Amino acid sequence: MKDHLIIFDTTLRDGEQSPGASMTREEKVRIARQLERMRVDIIEAGFPAASNGDFAAVKAVADSIKDSTVCGLARAIEADIRRAGEALRGAASARIHTFIATSPIHMEKKLRMSPDQVIEQAVKAVKWARQYTDDVEFSPEDAGRSDITFLCRVLEAVIKAGASTLNIPDTVGYTMPEQFGELIRTLRERIPGSEKVVFSVHCHNDLGLAVANSLAAVVNGARQVECTVNGLGERAGNASLEEIVMAVRTRQDFFSCDTRIDAVHIVPTSKLVSGITGFPVQPNKAIVGANAFAHESGIHQDGVLKHRETYEIMRAEDVGWGANKLLLGKHSGRNAFRSRLAELGIDLKSEETLNTTFMRFKELADKKHDIFDEDLYALVSEDDSVALREHYKLLSLTAHSETGETPHASIVIAEEGRESRAESDGSGPVDATFRAIEKILASGAELQLFSVNAITSGTDSQGEVTVRLQKSGRIVNGNGADTDIVVASAKAYLSALNKLHSNLERAHPQV
Ligand code: KIV
Ligand code: ZN
Repeated sequence: MKDHLIIFDTTLRDGEQSPGASMTREEKVRIARQLERMRVDIIEAGFPAASNGDFAAVKAVADSIKDSTVCGLARAIEADIRRAGEALRGAASARIHTFIATSPIHMEKKLRMSPDQVIEQAVKAVKWARQYTDDVEFSPEDAGRSDITFLCRVLEAVIKAGASTLNIPDTVGYTMPEQFGELIRTLRERIPGSEKVVFSVHCHNDLGLAVANSLAAVVNGARQVECTVNGLGERAGNASLEEIVMAVRTRQDFFSCDTRIDAVHIVPTSKLVSGITGFPVQPNKAIVGANAFAHESGIHQDGVLKHRETYEIMRAEDVGWGANKLLLGKHSGRNAFRSRLAELGIDLKSEETLNTTFMRFKELADKKHDIFDEDLYALVSEDDSVALREHYKLLSLTAHSETGETPHASIVIAEEGRESRAESDGSGPVDATFRAIEKILASGAELQLFSVNAITSGTDSQGEVTVRLQKSGRIVNGNGADTDIVVASAKAYLSALNKLHSNLERAHPQV
């Protein structure tokens, strides 16, 4: 009988700490539902004390997820823990994750606390958290650079205070796999009461070792891995969920544990996260990169044709490649549409939303013959962002480009019902469109990223555009989808401006 390896996904918390990856409440709920469908054990939904927006997002995830535990992060401060407890009140299963730094450099330079004060605060934090839930996780931040004897003291004390999961973070991605594995083994051996708790690991990828370090820890007895979809996360990111899950599953001869993840959801989840955050997946990324299962050399192709396992250690379809099924077309009715959305786990809040989304589906089906699941996700994703913050709305757009001519765009926008129009030249039709929008709105935002992805294959595919804007230190992503990529670009630009307009402030957990 194999042990269960708990998958703790922190895409919505540490992943969101990647500059530019901030997500709205609706986006977080959509990703959380997809993580639940993939059978992730624990979803860290955010840091409720960071802002009212973060609190609302964690609450919304807690209220809508039933099959995964929902976790909120809190510094070892009473007010943070209270916020986390309140945000998680509606969860079917709730966890509070509290942390305080234990490395000499963090204690001395950042916290300005003595080691004894840190232990005292850690114990208090765990006790506060236990007032809200029995499921309390404690992390000694920067454990990878902490003194092991001091770590043992802190961890023994928090076990006594009621922590049931001890998470060992390599916060700055500094350790080597052998060293990190050894650290986990030593902690498990030396700490009294360690057999009563789950050891977890949380590795950052600064030296490209996050997955290797996590797996070394699993070999040495860690039974929870904290990871993110596509390896998103602070700086160089966190250990990537898909790599951890598939390494353990593919090498069952080597590992004495397995996860409960339903791997066919891995690729759709990766696409969803990449679309929402605007962080593209590199083509040669393991498992979810476009080339992960592509064979280019003649010798490899020949081998695979003769016997697939000559060059493939996993099957593409097992991780969700090729799951892109044609299901609906322009003759599909409202019921077929509704039931496909339900199968995809998409819950449109009201009949009215269903009606407007169905109308937009019909418009799309007129332009694009075959509608795939990805198209439906994009439709709903637009509806979410459109419905909630539509301060600026695209009414019409004409863009012209011709060889040898200067591209030109003319646009009509409604700002809270008031119509304005403008025209502009540009270096291309998208540039002309963005300039025309700026003539009307003069946002002064700086364009940081413009990316276009074909949602499905084929030239009639919808283009999904992500625009990242920065203004006064705030970074937001806007998304837009359309069969015309200039229109998709205008929608994405306005969606980003709508988010900037909503003007939410948030704090950072490590500050
Ligand atoms: O990297 C880190 O140390 C963290 C903690 C909050 C667990 O993200
Ligand atoms: Zn982290």
